[in-house]
Amino acid sequence: MGAVTPVPVRLGRPGRSGAAAHVAGSPPGNPPAPGMPLRGPLVDSFGRVHTDLRISVTDRCNLRCVYCMPEDGMKFLPPDRLLGFEEIARVARVARSLGVTSVRITGGEPLVRRGVVDLVARLAGIGFEDIALTTNGTGLGRLAAPLARAGLRRVNVSCDSLREERFARIRRRGDLRQVLESMDAAEESGLAPLKVNVVLVAGVNDDEVLDFAGFARNTGRIVRFIEYMPLDADASWRRDQVVPADLVLSRIGERWPVAPLDQGGDPAPATRYRFLDGSGEIGVVASVTRPFCGSCNRLRLTAEGSIRNCLFSDDELSVRQVLERGEDEALALLLRRAVWGKRAGHGMDQPGFVRPSRSMSMIGG
Ligand code: 5AD
Ligand code: SF4
Repeated sequence: MGAVTPVPVRLGRPGRSGAAAHVAGSPPGNPPAPGMPLRGPLVDSFGRVHTDLRISVTDRCNLRCVYCMPEDGMKFLPPDRLLGFEEIARVARVARSLGVTSVRITGGEPLVRRGVVDLVARLAGIGFEDIALTTNGTGLGRLAAPLARAGLRRVNVSCDSLREERFARIRRRGDLRQVLESMDAAEESGLAPLKVNVVLVAGVNDDEVLDFAGFARNTGRIVRFIEYMPLDADASWRRDQVVPADLVLSRIGERWPVAPLDQGGDPAPATRYRFLDGSGEIGVVASVTRPFCGSCNRLRLTAEGSIRNCLFSDDELSVRQVLERGEDEALALLLRRAVWGKRAGHGMDQPGFVRPSRSMSMIGG
């Protein structure tokens, strides 16, 4: 986590009743947190400036990846609890006015939400520098072209195995060929360079590291190896299932030497490496073994309408009541408070670490 030390700035726990929104949205009796700036960029108490908003549009998904959801029995929000596109766009507009320059649409699987192309168009109208989307690829073949026309710039496609049977086992539903075809469609629509997200789980797919590196070299796609995080709904994550990024890099480097890319201070979670012979690049997201919290610039809007400042912190502020009653200024204050209250790091390696009560698909990846 680097040199930052936690300070006792904490938000209230999210209440089903929306009590947290009351705290943030009603100035009388709830003044801004001490020391929190009311102007300038969205900054937290450690000086991290926040410029990236992740917007989850649904907690639903048509797949059931082993590292994310149980095979059966996952409970989803009733549709009337989801934030509408108008509301999402309003939050995004206010975030833009506070210096947020990039947005990423996530889920669950964002492409199962009807009208997501319209949302991209609305976001494009706000004037972000970058609009990206993370998808499991199942609906992308059909939607890549309209999404690109609406203003989407980039797409990350999840794909954890290049072997059909294993792919089906990991994702439980879904089909490798369809996902590979969707990657082609995305590129044909101009959504390139394409990123491919691979969550490695020890003993499940870690024998495919070199296959994926070869895939990156042959296709020009940027394969990103992601460490398995304790965000699975089953709560079955074990530390020994994590495949450390260093191991991935040394395995690849033995076969095809790589060198770190100059990322120019880019706070993106992936550390990037290029193949020395010029055949493309790969990335590692070492969330567990080499946390990058010290440079985190992300905040999240959940499908239900809560601002969340970290994947691993249950501190959330609901925007719902502010959207219903408040002015944009109240919304701006809420965003500022949510960011200001961010902790120094996820603390996964500290003795008191408690996994967050929501899993990945309920938060937004
Ligand atoms: N650990 C790491 N990555 C995960 N994802 C989903 N669950 C986990 C987990 N437990 C990834 C998906 C997708 C992105 C949204 O998050 O594979 O690429
Ligand atoms: Fe769906 Fe993505 Fe979770 Fe897989 S990881 S079940 S594709 S939300």
